[in-house]
Amino acid sequence: MRERMERILFTEETIQRRVKDIGKVISSDYQTAGAAKDIECRPLIAVCILQGAMMFMADLMRAIEIPVEYDFMSISSYGSSTSPGAVRLLQDLSHSITGRDVLIVEDIVDTGFTANYIKRGLLARNPASFRICTLLDKPFRREETIEMDYVGFFLEEDLFVVGYGMDYAGVYRNLSYIALLKPEYK
Ligand code: PRP
Repeated sequence: MRERMERILFTEETIQRRVKDIGKVISSDYQTAGAAKDIECRPLIAVCILQGAMMFMADLMRAIEIPVEYDFMSISSYGSSTSPGAVRLLQDLSHSITGRDVLIVEDIVDTGFTANYIKRGLLARNPASFRICTLLDKPFRREETIEMDYVGFFLEEDLFVVGYGMDYAGVYRNLSYIALLKPEYK
């Protein structure tokens, strides 16, 4: 598939190095927070937002050095000019998050509609804490404000990227790097 790519933005090595760094920071942050509570903490719940975050989730979980449980959520966006930012829940969590530390794992945050929809829905279930980790962030595309707690890389240009979980028409998610598709393949 390499010949279909115009340019590689983040190589496998760059991604892996950054994921390990984020994993260390997350481990340290939650360890400190747990100690401060001075109670027997239940493990962090990491929530993978399907499908794009699957690769990032798998690597990030191996880079986290504290006990962690997983869960999965699937969200679909069907926004249009009449209902911009409309998103719908396709698959909900399997576990209760009430009183738990929740970390959302996203591949990319763009307009912020999806992340805000998730945040609103999950805060209503009264977690002990709620944070969001995204591999890529396009802050200049934001239409709804939302704070990211952990960001892998910022994209300052409006580039359509594929690979490492991200797709074009459902394909290219299995690339181990993040790249730009050649126009003739779009
Ligand atoms: C992508 C990404 C986020 C969302 C971000 O999902 O995984 O969930 O878009 O966009 P936003 O900030 O503009 O809401 P997508 O709808 O492409 O589905 P996928 O993860 O299944 O590829």
